[in-house]
Amino acid sequence: MPRIGNDRAPQPATIRAVDLGKRYGSPGAGGVQAMAGVDLDVAAGEFVTVVGASGCGKSTLLRIIAGFEPATDGTITVADEQITGPGPDRGVVFQDYGLFPWLTVSENIAYGPRQKRYPSAVVGEKTTRVLEAVGLTRFARSYPGQLSGGMQQRVAIARVLANDPAVMLMDEPFGALDALTRSAMQAELSRIHRETGTTVLFVTHSIEEAVVLADRVVVMAGGASHGVPGHIREIVPVPLARERDATSPEFNELKRHIAALVHEGVEAAA
Ligand SMILES: Nc1ncnc2c1ncn2[C@@H]1O[C@H](COP(=O)(O)OP(=O)(O)OP(=O)(O)O)[C@@H](O)[C@H]1O
Ligand SMILES: [Mg+2]
Repeated sequence: MPRIGNDRAPQPATIRAVDLGKRYGSPGAGGVQAMAGVDLDVAAGEFVTVVGASGCGKSTLLRIIAGFEPATDGTITVADEQITGPGPDRGVVFQDYGLFPWLTVSENIAYGPRQKRYPSAVVGEKTTRVLEAVGLTRFARSYPGQLSGGMQQRVAIARVLANDPAVMLMDEPFGALDALTRSAMQAELSRIHRETGTTVLFVTHSIEEAVVLADRVVVMAGGASHGVPGHIREIVPVPLARERDATSPEFNELKRHIAALVHEGVEAAA
């Protein structure tokens, strides 16, 4: 499988959550059980999307896998390794692009590989390759503030790819984009996923986006404000060939099924 990066690139990794739970704050008064009993197995190279009503624990799950938050129950492993904190094996992309505004596009991308003290020739090669992968070669010397939102998000993705992540964790990365840019970015991400084979866990509020991108859609429900901890309601496989036709009856049937589950989750918890 062709990879963006060098020979030291890690292989795509599995993610395994077993009975995972998260309580924010103290166990006594004021503590919030945000998530409980989450069991999830993501295969190496799989593309899994996560949907569910606001507050059901989607970001919490992603932050635990990213290593930004410790779980309070259960276990979480990536490539069979217990997670103890953030690591370069896991690339994280959020809705706000998190770019360094004082660095150019290529300097932003080279930042990670430089931190790893790769020789400058390797850094240069990686930067060139990922810039090409996201179609921004001509903007290498631009600053983030000179780019559109969609372009900045592509830089954020390129920056993560430059670290050859075994896993990409994406939290509503396209939420701030207009519809046209958003569908272009979805196509781009699908292509990058095909080319790199990286495992992707992708949170979105758009059920259509979830079905367009995923091998499987995780539907979460509940949430602290509903009095029920966030949990997995159902995992829905998407057995549709790519490129997907969002107007096909099969696509819409899946969308309807997932929308009903998301809705049910809200009503059941209300
Ligand atoms: N740092 C925190 N401290 C206390 N409670 C928190 C914290 N972060 C999240 N929560 C609570 O945990 C629950 C889950 O939050 P989370 O951000 O994971 O939801 P989400 O599914 O990502 O929602 P959204 O779709 O709005 O982004 C919510 O009830 C939230 O209030
Ligand atoms: Mg969230």
